[in-house]
Amino acid sequence: MKVCVIGTGYVGLVTGICLAEIGHDVVCVDKDEEKIKMLLAGKCPIYEEGLKELIGKNIKRKTIVFTTDLEGAIKSQEIIFICVGTPPLPSGKPDLASLDAVSRLIGKSINGYKVIVNKSTVPIGTAKRLKKIINENLRDDNKIHEFDIVSNPEFLKEGEAVNDAFFPERIVIGAESKRAIDLMEKLYKPLIEQDFSYAQNNAAKKDRIPVIITDSTSSELIKYASNSFLAAKISFINEIANICERVGANILDVTHGMGLDSRIGSKFMKAGIGWGGSCFPKDVRALAFTAEEYGAEANILNSAIQVNNYQRYKIVQKAMDVLGIIEDKTIAVLGIAFKPNTDDTREAPSITVINKFLELGADVRAYDPVVKACPPEMDSKAIMAPDAYKAAEGADILVIVTDWNEFINLDYLRIKKLMKAPCIIDGRNILDKKTMTALGFNYRGIGV
Ligand SMILES: NC(=O)c1ccc[n+]([C@@H]2O[C@H](COP(=O)([O-])OP(=O)(O)OC[C@H]3O[C@@H](n4cnc5c(N)ncnc54)[C@H](O)[C@@H]3O)[C@@H](O)[C@H]2O)c1
Repeated sequence: MKVCVIGTGYVGLVTGICLAEIGHDVVCVDKDEEKIKMLLAGKCPIYEEGLKELIGKNIKRKTIVFTTDLEGAIKSQEIIFICVGTPPLPSGKPDLASLDAVSRLIGKSINGYKVIVNKSTVPIGTAKRLKKIINENLRDDNKIHEFDIVSNPEFLKEGEAVNDAFFPERIVIGAESKRAIDLMEKLYKPLIEQDFSYAQNNAAKKDRIPVIITDSTSSELIKYASNSFLAAKISFINEIANICERVGANILDVTHGMGLDSRIGSKFMKAGIGWGGSCFPKDVRALAFTAEEYGAEANILNSAIQVNNYQRYKIVQKAMDVLGIIEDKTIAVLGIAFKPNTDDTREAPSITVINKFLELGADVRAYDPVVKACPPEMDSKAIMAPDAYKAAEGADILVIVTDWNEFINLDYLRIKKLMKAPCIIDGRNILDKKTMTALGFNYRGIGV
């Protein structure tokens, strides 16, 4: 089938590659010329395991092309995926400017029946908004053409995006039109039945992917509610970790004991510095905003946000407990990406923590296995170290912010010798307290 994917960020690029790999004819469009140039050269603009190889493979077999020509792509393809960013406005409301701009151009360019599939995470009611904007922008000569809107939220996890795209836990299709639903089921058939070559020898292959067909409003809410639930689960366990610290319990044993209850489960039960990234913060805020707009209470959502904000400053407080005055101290920070296996730094906890340390007058030396430049929101006084050992040299304290595997396997005896004082604040509980204490560190985790 002929598919156009608008926006080649984390979601659009992975979606485009997945659809090309399962046999469709895909045109990926982005307004960012540099990104398109990189993709045309077979380079991957984001760090995501396995993605670069799949881009090269699908360019070669001509199942995917990359372009900045949005109008041409809309005209030539039948199913149009929208995967543009929906970043938060200061009020918490998502900024739909990119989505609106794309919808206007779709309206102007329609030249036959099209299914417009929205994969961006959007406020409740956006499917109806898209329909209205497209209708308003139809020209006299293209008013005869029909189109349908589908809400098809994306659930991929950065760091595991390729795997999640090929082996999703569910596919949600929110649409009012049977014609559109039938086309979506046809499009996803190889994925639903797990009948495509990439799946054949892959351990992650599933028997069949569940498909949920619903109305667009419920589909939009499934996405927000899922992310908000996961964020609230982490905030909940962080609150329990903070209680553990007060009463002398160990969060690792507490979560193990809780997680064995199948009603609770062990996932998203890791206490730490809290959630960040391009999705959870903005999606929880957006759902709370919608709730308030519609006169519903958002007590749990607002508390989840509050606990999460507190958790970041808790790391700074722990450093203050050890160092007293922070001014002129040297602080090594391990991890800048908001989570491991990605280069994404949007709303990363590292930014809040490092900016606070710098504001208090510390020197910060940070290291990340993938992020090599200071993110735009981070105070540029932070020095980027080439490796963890260089970051630790002469440091008064070492703070672990991202749970990269590399940080578990460092030579901590070497780190201890390099540091001015052997103190670790483990914001992700990735190290074993007993082992680190035996090595001579003053070790402080979260709730342990
Ligand atoms: N990143 C994730 O893990 C994830 C997971 C699920 C859902 N989502 C949602 O998916 C959406 C996209 O997220 P992302 O992380 O891929 O964003 P992104 O910022 O990485 O990518 C968006 C892309 O859209 C392009 N774009 C913007 N306006 C355009 C236009 N008018 N024409 C063509 N291209 C345009 C941008 O240049 C950019 O390359 C968001 O709503 C996000 O909430 C993201």
